[in-house]
Amino acid sequence: MKVTVVGAGNVGATCADVLAYREIANEVVLVDIKEGLAEGKALDIWEKSPINLYDTRTVGATNDYSKTAGSSVVVITSGLPRKPGMSRDDLISTNAGIVKTVTENVVSHSPDAIIIVVSNPLDVMTYQAHLTSAHDRTRVMGMAGILDTARYRSFLAEALNVSPKDIQAVLMGGHGDTMVPLPRYTTVAGIPVTELIEEDKLEAIIERTKKGGGELVQLMGTSAWYAPGSAAAQMVEAIVRDQKRIFPVCAQLQGEYGIENTYLGVPVVLGKNGIEKFIELDLNQEEKALLEVSRGHVKDVMEVLDNMS
Ligand code: NAI
Ligand code: 2OP
Repeated sequence: MKVTVVGAGNVGATCADVLAYREIANEVVLVDIKEGLAEGKALDIWEKSPINLYDTRTVGATNDYSKTAGSSVVVITSGLPRKPGMSRDDLISTNAGIVKTVTENVVSHSPDAIIIVVSNPLDVMTYQAHLTSAHDRTRVMGMAGILDTARYRSFLAEALNVSPKDIQAVLMGGHGDTMVPLPRYTTVAGIPVTELIEEDKLEAIIERTKKGGGELVQLMGTSAWYAPGSAAAQMVEAIVRDQKRIFPVCAQLQGEYGIENTYLGVPVVLGKNGIEKFIELDLNQEEKALLEVSRGHVKDVMEVLDNMS
């Protein structure tokens, strides 16, 4: 099983490393436009194999997509990251061009690959990859919900002084400040979180989660990579191992939640065919209203993309 990761920067290299050391694929191809970067990082990951004991082959290529031919899954991380003061949406004009070119190259060499987009603004870059690839909506998706949910779960674990392993949660909407965490669907080892934490503390965690990406940009001067790279690798794993895992994933909605033609994070079942099922939660009025705000925001940015072409 071959998996390609385009963009050998912070997120892409981290994703490739996780795919290799967890032996999620037999071969991982890393591609970047910057001369030698992908080759160097792929070699570094391969040289780590005798230490961390894995046999996944890692191959690097500078803009040479022939090496990616026949990939089952392709993760697109190429593009500019945020700098302090920027929103994800500020990246649209540069990253849309990059995602379009990359998707064309990917599809011409791996027409059957399932595509996972990571580049920001996430929901709209997923839309871009879908437009360019013309794949069925079940085979083009974006990674954001696993990351946003992981941030929320890690903050809750810290506040409750319990293992993050025991926190289950789902989150919906766009990858940005309008994301919709759902405390009603958050449990700690099966116990509703609302029975374990005061309302104001939970509200503060929700607000921190919404701005979780920005918190890291402020600290580091660029955006995060360990959790994003691992989150993308987890989606790849669910697909290549046909795990039927339920994750929040950015996908094109065609009537689900009463929403048409919009890319939003919703819970889905991920398996060998990509998105195998859309799960429709029975949202209450307040949750529906928050999702509508998020939908409106993403739709506005999708229209910016439409007007660019
Ligand atoms: P980075 O700057 O470390 O890496 C990006 C890489 O893309 C660079 O090595 C660059 O040379 C490469 N690249 C640019 N144009 C290319 C092209 N045409 N073909 C191949 N490679 C190309 O950035 P980082 O931190 O890895 O972030 C990558 C993207 O992921 C950014 O847009 C960032 O905003 C986004 N991101 C999304 C997250 C999410 O939750 N969806 C989380 C974290 C980052
Ligand atoms: C993140 O949430 C910036 O989208 C990136 O870390």
